[in-house]
Amino acid sequence: MYHSSLLLCLSLGALVKYAAGSDWCYNGCEHTPSEWDHLDGSFCGEKRQSPINIITSHVEMDPNLTNFNFVNFSSRHVIKSYINNGHTAKYTLEENTTEVSGGGLNATYSTIQFHFHWGDTEYHPGSEHTIDGHRYPMEMHIVSLKKGLSVEQAKVDSAGIAVLGFFISAKEDGNVSAPWGDLVSNLTSIKDNEVPVNYKISLDDLIGSVNLTKFYRYMGSLTTPDCSEAVVWTIFHEPINIHKNLIRLFPMNTGLSNVFRPVQDLHKRQVFASPATPLPTGHPWCYDEHHCACTPPLWHFLPDSHCDGERQSPIDIVTKKTVIDEHLDAFTYTKFDDKHAIKYITNTGHSVKCVLKEDMVEVSGGGLGYVYSTLQFHFHWGDTSHESTGSEHTVDSKRYPMEMHIVNKRKDLTLDEAINTPNGLAVLGFFIEPTDSTKIRSSSGSSSEHHETNPTSSQASDMEAWTKLTKHLSDIQNLSSEVIVTEEISIDDLLGNVNRASYYRYNGSLTTPSCNEAVVWTVFKESVKVDQDLMMLFPIQTGHHNVFRPTQSLHNRTIYSTMSAASAPEPTALFLLLACLCAFPFNFHL
Ligand SMILES: *[C@@H]1O[C@H](CO)[C@@H](O)[C@H](O)[C@H]1NC(C)=O
Ligand SMILES: *[C@@H]1O[C@H](CO)[C@@H](O)[C@H](O)[C@H]1NC(C)=O
Ligand SMILES: *[C@@H]1O[C@H](CO)[C@@H](O)[C@H](O)[C@H]1NC(C)=O
Ligand SMILES: *[C@@H]1O[C@H](CO)[C@@H](O)[C@H](O)[C@H]1NC(C)=O
Ligand SMILES: [Zn+2]
Ligand SMILES: [Zn+2]
Repeated sequence: MYHSSLLLCLSLGALVKYAAGSDWCYNGCEHTPSEWDHLDGSFCGEKRQSPINIITSHVEMDPNLTNFNFVNFSSRHVIKSYINNGHTAKYTLEENTTEVSGGGLNATYSTIQFHFHWGDTEYHPGSEHTIDGHRYPMEMHIVSLKKGLSVEQAKVDSAGIAVLGFFISAKEDGNVSAPWGDLVSNLTSIKDNEVPVNYKISLDDLIGSVNLTKFYRYMGSLTTPDCSEAVVWTIFHEPINIHKNLIRLFPMNTGLSNVFRPVQDLHKRQVFASPATPLPTGHPWCYDEHHCACTPPLWHFLPDSHCDGERQSPIDIVTKKTVIDEHLDAFTYTKFDDKHAIKYITNTGHSVKCVLKEDMVEVSGGGLGYVYSTLQFHFHWGDTSHESTGSEHTVDSKRYPMEMHIVNKRKDLTLDEAINTPNGLAVLGFFIEPTDSTKIRSSSGSSSEHHETNPTSSQASDMEAWTKLTKHLSDIQNLSSEVIVTEEISIDDLLGNVNRASYYRYNGSLTTPSCNEAVVWTVFKESVKVDQDLMMLFPIQTGHHNVFRPTQSLHNRTIYSTMSAASAPEPTALFLLLACLCAFPFNFHL
């Protein structure tokens, strides 16, 4: 008995009841929060203080914030005692029974106590942390020390203490949760009287159904004097929901009101979030780790993401496995020849996008079955080297230098409906390759012959249109910048004489987050030919390199092809042959 109360005194007294003699308080005494930095040995005026307001649009996703491991959080025998220490209602745990690790923590932490912050009986909220300025009714702090450290040792370790913060939200109706009902039965206004807890509830009973994979992380301090800057903070995104009558019992039965510290300056700190935490849309995703943490393999963690679905794009088109579909007839293009259809050109941070005027350009036919309105076209590319490749689709594993996507929405649907409908969008994909003359020029060095007639001139597009378009790239170097296009450029000018009757067709997705599986894809077999110097302007002027998503698994999809597929081997015959090889692997020496 003596032994355990000594331990209690050493390990807990210091943490929450710091400087019992030099009285501090939240309200109604000399040392209110704005004066805490004047207390002896106080860190409360330093630059790594807690709590903070979490601004979700400034939060960065951190893939290292993996799931937690909790030991004995489900045990109903770990809560030992309750005390009203004059600042909060605190529940002490049995020593060395309860642990936390994982969740991006670098060590195992032993849980020692939990306590609460709240507002008043008039339902003023009293959480310490706020999210985008929103203060919840209450906040629970589960406090753990780095395993093996004393409180004094933990307080001088920059990650010596791990606090798990849970917001508590007030439910208007529904049942009063039984474990919380038990917990609040202890609340008294009698101060500094440690009483044993005799009900049997676990930490998990209190946490309830909160999703423990969604949380914020930052480095901060204790929120009471001496405000030691030793805390790794975890703030869970989802609140615990309890009945509002229970919340009111905290101020009513303890005689303590508004026991929370105001939010502190972030200074230069970054707040991180686990991958599962929903962050505001427009949250950074990118193609490579030099630009952000959320690269293609992690896109499926983004909120509302479909990026791990089974009909994703782009794909590798294995020509021998394509199936001829005679319904893939010619397209009908409306206003593709309009030289004033482009409204503006913009740098999205991921691509260069040409947005078209509304309700003007259309496409139908081509086996689509609907009329589609053309919204925009944009590009995917590689880097600044001459051999660079950056198309999204590949054909028999060959990646082309660039790819142009003309994005169309079913005319009878709103955009919102379209992105949630399996054929709501139709994208026309064109590969782009250098004109032969410019290819030769880059290796031979002779420079003035590329406008002369050459064998492929019938396929070359109108270089004047591409020159006009790419001239704008220098005006949109800044992210999100846009310029109005006044020059005369039509989509037909850009596509030139490329054969638009010969193409592949499959069901796929958007190739950027949220990767909605709403796209009927058309990938044209013949490539558009453009001067290599002009193609090079995309990576040079925007500074973005290799803006393409890796190819995705086909799963059980079929890629169809137009009749005019002049591919050498008869695809179905070869397919059968392959099937035979697979069926009798031991009869053939492969
Ligand atoms: C869990 O708690 C019990 C006491 O309730 C204790 O005997 C046991 O050792 C604890 N388990 C671990 C892994 O610490
Ligand atoms: C974990 O260790 C790394 C490297 O020392 C450090 O940068 C990081 O802040 C630590 N994280 C936590 C939560 O302690
Ligand atoms: C890009 O932004 C910077 C700083 O805001 C500005 O000075 C510059 O003029 C902008 N450049 C272009 C091409 O708009
Ligand atoms: C796309 O999916 C629809 C049904 O979901 C199907 O009717 C259609 O044939 C598919 N098209 C292709 C090209 O696979
Ligand atoms: Zn606290
Ligand atoms: Zn695209």
